[in-house]
Amino acid sequence: MRHRLTVIGSGYLGITHAACMAELGHQVLGLDIDEDRVRRLNQGELPIHEQGLEELLRRNLAAGRLRFGTDPREAAAFGDLHFLCLGTPQRKDSGAADLSQLDAAVDALAPHLDRPCLLVGKSTVPVGTAERLAARLTALAPAGEGAELAWNPEFLREGHAVQDTLAPDRIVLGVRPGRAEALLRDLYGPLGDIPTVVTDYATAELVKVAANAFLATKISYINAIAEVCEAAGADVVRLAEALGHDDRIGRRFLSAGLGFGGGCLPKDIRAFVARAEELGTGESLEFLRQVDAINLRRRTRAVDHARDLAGGSFTNRRIAVLGAAFKPDSDDIRDSPALDVATAIAREGAHVSVYDPAALDNARKARPDLDYATSTIDAARGAHVLLLLTEWPEFTTLDPTALAPHLATPAVLDARNVLDPRTWRTAGWTYRSLGRR
Ligand code: UDX
Repeated sequence: MRHRLTVIGSGYLGITHAACMAELGHQVLGLDIDEDRVRRLNQGELPIHEQGLEELLRRNLAAGRLRFGTDPREAAAFGDLHFLCLGTPQRKDSGAADLSQLDAAVDALAPHLDRPCLLVGKSTVPVGTAERLAARLTALAPAGEGAELAWNPEFLREGHAVQDTLAPDRIVLGVRPGRAEALLRDLYGPLGDIPTVVTDYATAELVKVAANAFLATKISYINAIAEVCEAAGADVVRLAEALGHDDRIGRRFLSAGLGFGGGCLPKDIRAFVARAEELGTGESLEFLRQVDAINLRRRTRAVDHARDLAGGSFTNRRIAVLGAAFKPDSDDIRDSPALDVATAIAREGAHVSVYDPAALDNARKARPDLDYATSTIDAARGAHVLLLLTEWPEFTTLDPTALAPHLATPAVLDARNVLDPRTWRTAGWTYRSLGRR
């Protein structure tokens, strides 16, 4: 059956969810408080870099299945389901999640809900949030108990958002007895036979943070081993390859380097720790503090290597930085390890020139103090050290022989372990990595 639904919050998650639900044939109204963003979206202009999403947006706008607006009253009248896709960033004063956007969205919508409907939370939240929001919804909505709530966490990765939404590994439905499960199964029916776990609110909320904490732990695990590899003269890339052959371990998320960043993993592990402490079980997640510390240490380590390569000091040194996005195929610079390292080096007196294939506009806004280049060669011109900080394909396939003459001294820090040391050394480069001899 085709449904009428709204998607509240037009960020990464919201735009993707709205466009993908329209692609399945549903009628979708996307909502945001930012009028300019809404106007641009209605013109088919995507405010983020995400493969395949702009095409999907345009196709569904043109087909009349998708539009964007700002009015919660209109949303309440339009939809039988309302998806909550608001950001839950880290609070400024602690590691806990800031739920103000989510609370504000429910407060704005609920007073207009005068007929039975289902609110579906997709944001990543501290366990207990759904229970609280459900009570608030019943209290504020004229429909009372007729306005139900479900929690349906989203696992999409930036750069693969469309594919992850249209072909997810699993669907998790946190529901109370009622219409919610049947409605959501029907809505997602066109996706085909996707493993679906039906559970309570708390478990559904925890699945998401537990998954992200596991991924973060896996990355920090291999990065901790990388520290030992460096000290012992071993090679973490070969080591990870060998570990990965064990199916129980697996090779994915075992790439050592500069560590994780982005809008999810760092803030999610901190919020998880903060919530566990509130619940009196802080000790259980104590290890996540180490996961965070190991991850941040990668950035310091990269700066130390770069300084060493620059001759012991950054004064009067030109440093070329390749990468500003927190990962390739994204223009997202939230908690970007690359941009953090670039900033730290600039603060120590280096002249830093940053190039990124997609994230330059965002980087310029966030860190106007750095210099930005229009290409790899532009960044590398006259540099004493080249830092590869985000593994975009155009950086991993660089030709060291062709690049070397552009630098003052051909020295490279391969902070993502994606270059072939032998090829680069043969081409005359001083090569360093995070975790390889
Ligand atoms: C993550 C989760 O993967 C996704 O399921 C969730 O919904 C949101 O958070 P995302 O933030 O898009 O997605 O990025 P992801 O691809 O998971 O990478 C996170 C970070 O880890 C990146 O900075 C990446 O460079 C780093 N990483 C990843 C490593 O350092 N090593 C690895 O082996 C893998």
